[in-house]
Amino acid sequence: MSQAPKLNKNQKFSTNMASAHELMLLGKQGKKGNQSVARYALPAFNVTTYQGIDAAVDAFQTLGASGIVAFSNSALKHFGNGDAIKGLARASEHVKMLAKEGNVKIATHLDHGDYLSDSGKKVVDAAIECLTSVMADNSTDHKNETHTPLEVNIEATRAVVDKAHAKGVSVEGELGVLAGVEDEDTQSEVSTYTDPEELKDFLTKTGVLMLAPTIGTMHGPNKGKPGQKVKLNIELANECLKIADKINSDIIFVAHGASTLYPNVIEYAVNQLKDMGTLAEATKKWNNFVGTDWDQIEGLIKAGFCKINTDTENRQTYLAALLGAVKAGPATIDIRNFDKVTYKALYHSYLQKLIMAGNYGVWHEPKIDVKNFKFTLS
Ligand code: 13P
Repeated sequence: MSQAPKLNKNQKFSTNMASAHELMLLGKQGKKGNQSVARYALPAFNVTTYQGIDAAVDAFQTLGASGIVAFSNSALKHFGNGDAIKGLARASEHVKMLAKEGNVKIATHLDHGDYLSDSGKKVVDAAIECLTSVMADNSTDHKNETHTPLEVNIEATRAVVDKAHAKGVSVEGELGVLAGVEDEDTQSEVSTYTDPEELKDFLTKTGVLMLAPTIGTMHGPNKGKPGQKVKLNIELANECLKIADKINSDIIFVAHGASTLYPNVIEYAVNQLKDMGTLAEATKKWNNFVGTDWDQIEGLIKAGFCKINTDTENRQTYLAALLGAVKAGPATIDIRNFDKVTYKALYHSYLQKLIMAGNYGVWHEPKIDVKNFKFTLS
């Protein structure tokens, strides 16, 4: 296989837009302006609505943070009323417009694109034209729910790199299979760890600068049993980092399934449900939600995971806030009130996660006291 093309770093995107890789590299190198700091990570917030985009971008602006706004295939369909390609155009234009108004750098990312199916290819090709970063998740054949052979994964991922890198669009590959339910388009019953033996081959042949190794994280709201701590394979993460750094120290790892699921959000939702009639089943579900513990994610950040993906906890935050707003005003015809409440909850939860990840003060001083900030729903 010929040498993989390098990422074109001279590509000019719309004002204040950058490739996800450019922003994450600053995190891996611990750079904030002229300052050298500890390694930090960029939460990639999966959004489903314009309100979610606004809340994320406002949080980046408040903190002077580097931003990643991510879209899953089903989110794009939602933005496009069933048509993912239309959704891509609409949602990406919205982010570009907001980025122009501000003074931080933002990347837009396609989450779990695949280059194995015809429909997946169409979305990835369109995303290369309007986003600044794409994931080529070819480690699983989602249609047939099978693990893809290494050579097939390499070939499909390399095809994306060939197109995307020329346009300055960074590419994230996946090696190993991540279990859990991300959304209707991306789910798997089983999980397999990344094989370090395959890693070198995959990175060298594909040329990706972003990789999601599988080290035990899971998508979705049930990452473990209630009361038990989720344990990731940090040892394997460090082993993978050593291999990747030898090939190219610019390679960044990505943690999927990084939602911590805020306990105060669960508690708040359960409290709202208490007086709402026959919702025992829903209360049980909320109580059974288990996220990945933050100390585990911190271990990953040290091991070079500078992109931490969250989707589930954003949806839970939205829903918990909505439950509270509906309970407080079940006959509120001015539905803008519900929008205000859910926006505020999302904005504050995004601030919290960015602060936890150390991603603030990158482009300007934070406009709030980050040390004393605490996200609560009320
Ligand atoms: P969560 O399900 O933990 O939010 O993970 C989302 C994710 O990894 C998107 O790719």
